[in-house]
Amino acid sequence: MKFGALILLGLVACGKDTGVPPALPPAPTPYELVVPAGFPAPAIPPDNPLTIEGIALGERLFADPILSVDSTIACISCHLPAHAFSDPRSFSQGVGGLTSRNSMPLFNLLWSRSFFWDGRAASLEDQALEPVEMPVEMGEDWDRVVAKLERHPEYPALFTRAFGDVPIDRRLVVRAIAQFERTLISAASKYDRWLAGQAEFTPEEERGFVLFHTEEGDCFHCHVAPLFTDNEFHNNGLDLDPPDEGLAALTGKRLDRGKFKTPTLRNVEYTAPYMHDGRFQTLEEVVVHYDSGFHRTALTDPLLLVRPNLDLTPADKRAIVAFLKTLSEPQFQVP
Ligand code: HEC
Ligand code: HEC
Repeated sequence: MKFGALILLGLVACGKDTGVPPALPPAPTPYELVVPAGFPAPAIPPDNPLTIEGIALGERLFADPILSVDSTIACISCHLPAHAFSDPRSFSQGVGGLTSRNSMPLFNLLWSRSFFWDGRAASLEDQALEPVEMPVEMGEDWDRVVAKLERHPEYPALFTRAFGDVPIDRRLVVRAIAQFERTLISAASKYDRWLAGQAEFTPEEERGFVLFHTEEGDCFHCHVAPLFTDNEFHNNGLDLDPPDEGLAALTGKRLDRGKFKTPTLRNVEYTAPYMHDGRFQTLEEVVVHYDSGFHRTALTDPLLLVRPNLDLTPADKRAIVAFLKTLSEPQFQVP
């Protein structure tokens, strides 16, 4: 209501030739980000502060196939809200075929230092530039995207509300999308309520917690709470000879072959299939991998190499899976 009145005033002022300069568009409304208790301070780029209008625009762009060459694929086509913004298929369908890696879940991104499985993008803004022009994903050209948005009946006004009276360009598009992505926060799982003394674990979940956080199961070295990632790159022994170079494609270092960013385990119940190539369908298969299924090669992470096989009992394997499911937040399963 309030904004409507302001916009109307602006229009009236522009319409009359009174010699008064046209009213500037109203400034966007700052968004109050609530940082969950126990989480580190997030890093938001100073040139892209969160605003209500920027976030709303980003959410709309994220779901709009206008960013793709044939208007069939949006970001949301491969990052499905019902799967914590990942894809239940091992590889995602883009305009030019299938991606070569598993889509990644999107939340708690304001605590990530690098993006993609191999960390090749340094910011969310940089990350969002890539899928639009990737032939397999959206196959579009940024200049054409900007032209389509300029011609659109609604987008020009939405960009003005979010960023002021400046021409639409790719930089503003990715800023809006990044703002939206930064508001996707998951910190209200059963585990979080348990930490706060507001929920009880079953004995099995508690056993899983202990296995996870001790040498017995040894997950915590890489999947570090509260984000359940260390934001580092490791080779967790998936292959004798990694077919995907991973981090080595960027660094050229032979020991970086098959290293990938440690994924968060929050909402992992909703993000099957697992690993950079979606090779495991279930969490039970993942636990078997860490128990006795991983390869010991010169590339395997020392944390895994130094220890003997875990030899977890069937009950302990179930306990780890039960604990992992306490990291779910049902909001990230809603279509
Ligand atoms: C065709 C499917 C597809 C489309 C369309 C797509 N993505 Fe992705 N996304 C992926 C895949 C696959 C990866 C992992 C790729 C890799 O690591 O090489 C990924 C990775 C990401 C990441 C990195 C997350 C992290 O934790 O590092 C972000 C952020 C992201 N996508 C956002 C977007 C946005 C924003 C759009 C729209 C502009 C988009 N994606 C469009 C499939 C897709
Ligand atoms: C040496 C570090 C390290 C240790 C220890 C470790 N992980 Fe991982 N984990 C990773 C990395 C790296 C990946 C991604 C590997 C890839 O895709 O190539 C991963 C992937 C996963 C995934 C798949 C998530 C997804 O979204 O695809 C699950 C689930 C998982 N780990 C659970 C565990 C459990 C449970 C333990 C303990 C039994 C554990 N991890 C121990 C580093 C580690």
